[in-house]
Amino acid sequence: MRRKLFALVLSCVLASSLAAGAQTGVVRPGDQWRDNHGRLIQAHGGGITFWKGMYYWFGEDRSRDNDPAKRYVACYSSRDLMHWRFCGKSLALSDPEHLGPGWVLERPKVFVNASTGKFVLYAHLDDAHYSFARVMVAVSNRIQGPYKYVKSYRPLGEESRDIGQFVDDDGSAYLIFESRPTHGFFIARLTGDFMNVEKTCFLPAPLEGGALVHLRGTYYVVGSHMTGWKPNPNVYATAPALTGPWTEFRTLAPAAARNYGSQSTMLLKVAGSKVTTVIFMADQWHPDALWDSRYFWMPLEMGAGNMHLPPPRPWSIDATTGETIFSAAGR
Ligand code: DGJ
Repeated sequence: MRRKLFALVLSCVLASSLAAGAQTGVVRPGDQWRDNHGRLIQAHGGGITFWKGMYYWFGEDRSRDNDPAKRYVACYSSRDLMHWRFCGKSLALSDPEHLGPGWVLERPKVFVNASTGKFVLYAHLDDAHYSFARVMVAVSNRIQGPYKYVKSYRPLGEESRDIGQFVDDDGSAYLIFESRPTHGFFIARLTGDFMNVEKTCFLPAPLEGGALVHLRGTYYVVGSHMTGWKPNPNVYATAPALTGPWTEFRTLAPAAARNYGSQSTMLLKVAGSKVTTVIFMADQWHPDALWDSRYFWMPLEMGAGNMHLPPPRPWSIDATTGETIFSAAGR
């Protein structure tokens, strides 16, 4: 009787902690992912900044109880990439350029400027029709913010919508931006103060959700086709240098899988003591409930200029060694 009661109490405790969304230390691509408070992580279209031994995950905060007139960027921190602590809303912005109802702030990314000591937040800023097509810049003295709006601009004078971030092994920082009239996207190095960009490379491929990684002397760039919130087969190309020459684009996964319902947002390189793992970070958008859009993170299979996104299954990483472990059990 006592044992039965104990088992019942234990199962109730487990069920309630799962319902409360306890962090499990396992990534389940496409499942809900919760922070240290048990709340859904709000870091959509996000980016990761590694600083002083800590990973900081910034992204669109689409919480249902947000003030609908404002746009928000949330910040989470983690040492192990599996458990995320909410650090607060880094940005809570009122329409800075009078863009009107439905104005857009998407895909925020934070860069660390070692020479100025400032943290610089970039995001896609737009009106409801996506015709403003600029980046916005905000600055803070603390990584978690609060960030102060500085300006918006068109990088290289071009229309800019989806943005991505890349920091090379030598510390140089780049903005990736899609530019529809050019039928392609740019990789552009940030200037010394990170307030502007200079052209590094133009890729004549109409792709958004741009992401880049540098692995063993090869650059891999990833992007998705322009199908709004709907998933499509994401593609990649490689080059020996950022300036090219770039190969043709190839699909990351079987085309019929449509990237397992996800859209690229970042390639995160974890250079561990034993292996280097590259994590494909993507979003599974729920346009009618953006607050419940899911994260699709999977380690990529890479080598010899090839990149393959395997089908989703639960996994975890040892952020010190870089080694990944896949759960034997199914979902
Ligand atoms: C695709 C982009 O990648 C998203 O960030 C968002 O802008 C949607 N389009 C809007 O349709």
